[in-house]
Amino acid sequence: MLNKKVEEILNTQVQKEDYSSQLYLSMASWAETEGFSGVAGWLYAQSDEERLHMLKLVEYINERDGAAEIPGMEKPPKTFNNLPEMFDAVLEHERYITASINEIVAVCMQEKDYTTHNWIQWFVQEQIEEEASAKDIIDKLNLVGDKNLYMFDRDIMSMRSAGNKE
Ligand code: FEO
Repeated sequence: MLNKKVEEILNTQVQKEDYSSQLYLSMASWAETEGFSGVAGWLYAQSDEERLHMLKLVEYINERDGAAEIPGMEKPPKTFNNLPEMFDAVLEHERYITASINEIVAVCMQEKDYTTHNWIQWFVQEQIEEEASAKDIIDKLNLVGDKNLYMFDRDIMSMRSAGNKE
């Protein structure tokens, strides 16, 4: 039986992963309307990954005799000023998610739930990759500057790291 505090914080994470999926979907849609089909493709894939993260949590909570709560939809912003600002927002959001995963680790330790502590390590590792991948994109954007956004858009899909596909 899942410890109540652990169940609660995992359900909070379900909401956050769901919001991440919606946020990246909104960014993808905006990028598409701005003509950045490569960036849109990257973000659509990222949005799908976030949904998988949410499902992973739902499955785990239920498997451990808890009850996963499926969140209502929280509306993400609809428009973004430009690509650099949007990817800064991606990195900021991923840092927020990392802090939130670390909080789950802390609650698992407090509650001596070593099973969930072990299980959540996948997310700890995933966050290293998610932050690194957002940082790589920001570095690349700084390098190409405003004039080469076409090339950046063409190449961004090749920047999806092998470890960042689920
Ligand atoms: Fe599921 Fe990007 O954190």
